Amino acid sequence: MFQSFYKIQSVEQLNPTTFSFVVDCKNLAAESWCGRFVNIQCGEKTLRRPISISEIDQEMGTITLVFEVRGEGTAWLAQRKAGDEINILGPLGNGFFPDKGKRAIFIGGGIGCPPMLGAAQDYGEKAEAILGFRSKGQVILLDKFEKCCQSVSVTTNDGSFGTKGFVTDVLREKLESDTDCVVYACGPMPMLKGVAELCNEKNVLCYVSLEQRMGCGIGACLACACKTHEKDGEHMRHVCKNGPVFDAREVDFNG
Ligand code: FES
Repeated sequence: MFQSFYKIQSVEQLNPTTFSFVVDCKNLAAESWCGRFVNIQCGEKTLRRPISISEIDQEMGTITLVFEVRGEGTAWLAQRKAGDEINILGPLGNGFFPDKGKRAIFIGGGIGCPPMLGAAQDYGEKAEAILGFRSKGQVILLDKFEKCCQSVSVTTNDGSFGTKGFVTDVLREKLESDTDCVVYACGPMPMLKGVAELCNEKNVLCYVSLEQRMGCGIGACLACACKTHEKDGEHMRHVCKNGPVFDAREVDFNG
């Protein structure tokens, strides 16, 4: 894990509230893989903001961070420009370890899509993606998913783009015809719960990356606690340290 000031190489605004930064950080990029995250100091805010790593370019020594403005910290971050330096702690968390022998379905909901992009790119052309957004204005990263996946399905809640409905509608259809696959998902809790229940019903292995409010990001506080049911009983786990990726069968989505 590293903590240092790293230079923003480029900035792109993906929609009115979502930004993408490519950050120059050779040492940090070398230790990064999909599903891990970084903690960024945002101005005078005491608590760092956790941002998942979207893409990694080991050769160039860069990572891409995609984040949504949700409060003062991320609003400060969105005002940074190419050439500015930001204080980053990371990479943190366990990340995804896709089983490349299996058909893989990557599911992202809203700002849960960016970490799934890196995972799908890493997996290769057999990857399939299902992306869910509230409406057309929120759709991000579609061109990049289309480049690395053999199929991409998009759903919007209001039907303004792609299919009207939820990612679980598309997943159900896919699993009706073939359950020999692994599912990886990141997005809001209700979406993850729906995906996990469906995979459980169809006996499909599923890994979820939990989006949780965080404090320290390194397992030293209790801000990110989540309840799990594991072989040896019930545990309170730290999403930052034990996750953010968990076997969906172990997560207590109601806890
Ligand atoms: Fe402090 Fe996870 S954020 S323990």
